[in-house]
Amino acid sequence: MKNIVVVGSQWGDEGKGKIVDWLSEQADIVIRFQGGHNAGHTLVIDGITYKLRLLPSGIVRKNKISVIGNGVVIDPWALLDEIEEIKSKGIKVDTDNLLISESANLILPFHREMDEIREDAAGTKKIGTTRRGIGPAYEDKIGRRSIRVMDLRSEKNLDQRLETVLLHHNAIRKGLGKKIFKKDLLKKDLLKIAPEILKFSQPVWFRINEFKRQKKKILFEGAQGILLDVDHGTYPFVTSSNTVASNAATGTGCGPNSINYVLGITKAYTTRVGEGPFPTELKDNIGELLGARGKEFGTVTSRKRRCGWFDGVLVRQTIKISGIDGIALTKLDVLDELDEIKMCVQYDLDGKKVNYLPASVEDQIKIKPIYKTFPGWKTSTKGVKNMEDLPDNAKNYIFALEDFIETKVSSISTSPERDDTILIENPFEI
Ligand code: GDP
Ligand code: IMO
Ligand code: MG
Repeated sequence: MKNIVVVGSQWGDEGKGKIVDWLSEQADIVIRFQGGHNAGHTLVIDGITYKLRLLPSGIVRKNKISVIGNGVVIDPWALLDEIEEIKSKGIKVDTDNLLISESANLILPFHREMDEIREDAAGTKKIGTTRRGIGPAYEDKIGRRSIRVMDLRSEKNLDQRLETVLLHHNAIRKGLGKKIFKKDLLKKDLLKIAPEILKFSQPVWFRINEFKRQKKKILFEGAQGILLDVDHGTYPFVTSSNTVASNAATGTGCGPNSINYVLGITKAYTTRVGEGPFPTELKDNIGELLGARGKEFGTVTSRKRRCGWFDGVLVRQTIKISGIDGIALTKLDVLDELDEIKMCVQYDLDGKKVNYLPASVEDQIKIKPIYKTFPGWKTSTKGVKNMEDLPDNAKNYIFALEDFIETKVSSISTSPERDDTILIENPFEI
């Protein structure tokens, strides 16, 4: 038995969806364990594009079970819309292939509004969130006033839970001069969709235990990236969940001994969407070229992603923090046209050399990247499926990157299409 956790090793959008879909051919179960519909995971299969936000990327394959764990925050309306959207593309979604944790917390309309209100009020100090209500929903979870999937089962219970959460939110809303939320209206709206959500709800920890007993192969699908982790990322410019691999255990109830391998998805350069420090950001023609060739626009918000060189110092750090065993290097083909390619191998902080990202944002903004330069390959690698078919300069870049981050590159992605992937070491067979 081999269970793999897939996480993003940078600031998200590394290509997790593509790699999870590709790997899920070998898995039985695919589970999301954190985040919400702030995630946007793209799969391209025979020219057809699927964009998944809450649904695990295994959903597109037949005979796989997709699971949304307790660590995920669910906007029930967004989930139902997504289910309809994917069904309209001919994908089956029913209670045989989708399970939702009864303990998952809900994102409600006042969470989304609070996210908007805060971002608008912050002006230049905004985080640049996806405005989906993720942060406010996790706050209510930790504040023990949240509404969970299971609360939709009884009107009496839902009434009491809404009373508690609205007491908190309406007090803030009144203070901000915003209209208050009416409990009965919200309750009515929730009860209307409750059966549609509840039919998928299960004790996920229990089902995972059964899957383990049946020796099923489990793929845990992380969202966002380690640099957006609320503890280990570029705080406060982070998301509100733990994106590290160990949260796959907490966010599903399977225990850390169920994780056998951690695969870090790593873009061959760096992108970030939203505000916050980005040492290797390129605000020049090369940044524009990476954005254009890589089609770097947000899957969820369509925002332009900021682009920059590969930051080896950062990825080496996230590999350690998340316990990554091997990486899948994605979007190599985006670098095809460049004359030379740079990799950040150290920082300069006020004249001192630093080998890791300093913890404070103040220092993170100040540091200057120190680069190593590699010759480009100026040949198309798009769609290459074997290591031998890569140009030498591309191989040299990959080997140098592997050496620097002290971790094996176990696969390389050369286009958005599912099968345009070079397999070096199969994580299911290690
Ligand atoms: P995720 O959030 O990590 O799943 O990544 P996204 O789906 O948000 O963004 C990755 C984008 O890059 C998507 O548009 C993918 O279709 C695309 N993509 C993934 N792998 C490759 C690759 O190897 N080459 C190219 N050119 N595009 C890729
Ligand atoms: P996937 O799974 C890239 C970023 C937002 C913002 C910060 C906080 O597709 O890689 P939030 O709405 O979570 O409170 O926003 O996190 N962010 C992502 N960036 N990829 C994502 O997901 C992201 N999810 C959130 O842009 O900077
Ligand atoms: Mg994405």
